[in-house]
Amino acid sequence: MSSYRAAVVTGASSGIGRALALQLARSGVAALVVVARRRELLDDLAREIRALERRAYVECIDLSDTELTVARLRALDRELRFDLVVSNAGLGAPSGANPLAWETLRGPFHVNFCGAAATLTAVLPDMVERRRGHLVGIGSLSAYGALPNAAAYCTPKAGLGMLLDCLRMDLQGTDVHVTHVRLGFVRTAMVAHSTHPMPQMLEAEAVAQRIVERLPRAPREIVLPRALGMATRVAGALPGSLRELAARFVRER
Ligand SMILES: NC(=O)c1ccc[n+]([C@@H]2O[C@H](COP(=O)([O-])OP(=O)(O)OC[C@H]3O[C@@H](n4cnc5c(N)ncnc54)[C@H](OP(=O)(O)O)[C@@H]3O)[C@@H](O)[C@H]2O)c1
Repeated sequence: MSSYRAAVVTGASSGIGRALALQLARSGVAALVVVARRRELLDDLAREIRALERRAYVECIDLSDTELTVARLRALDRELRFDLVVSNAGLGAPSGANPLAWETLRGPFHVNFCGAAATLTAVLPDMVERRRGHLVGIGSLSAYGALPNAAAYCTPKAGLGMLLDCLRMDLQGTDVHVTHVRLGFVRTAMVAHSTHPMPQMLEAEAVAQRIVERLPRAPREIVLPRALGMATRVAGALPGSLRELAARFVRER
């Protein structure tokens, strides 16, 4: 049985977040708050969670509204006392959008970084006071280094990684833990229309199962799949000039 009593999962209306919320419910988490914008999908999920004899709370929030996000999570925390916060919601750039335009960057920056930061810190001081809590950020292997045409997605995910590292450092000795989940390709709506190669594709349910199995040990990082993670990390550590050369080679081929 899970050691968590009350969890919040953002981006729970589809894909990885939905699978994570269900897996947490199956693992024994007593109360789950599921957050996203699409109410009908959240209501369906809540019914599935209740069928597992867990409590489910639906929160329709646009996470780009960070003030609302913080206010709602704090209100719920007064009743539920979260001991697990999973920041999973995210979006990519719309296909065909100009990768250099602010209009393309805006959505992912607001949701994938600001929304994630608001989610992760909304009740953090209370967790510290209670000396109990676990923050989980769903990141991406794409944050290991710059990729062509991907500023909208890579930049906020890299920022999320830095935020998690800083929080972990400041939370030493508090019994509040921080885990950065770095994922490769997962078959969800987010990548359904992607045309670039997506090696070692994972299924959302398998990803959720592996994350939930490992969370109780509060690892610093969970990297899935490991082999692609290792290769991406090495590529990300190459000097910028070499990476730019490779990107130019691919563009001109
Ligand atoms: N799929 C992959 O290959 C992959 C790889 C690495 C990392 N990830 C990360 O995994 C996480 C989940 O993505 P996914 O693949 O499961 O994609 P998905 O099926 O498209 O799910 C994205 C979730 O984020 C929510 N969301 C988006 N914008 C929101 C907003 N403004 N306010 C509130 N919720 C919002 C969506 O809900 P609503 O639309 O209902 O609001 C949905 O529940 C993301 O952080 C993504 O970056 C995915």
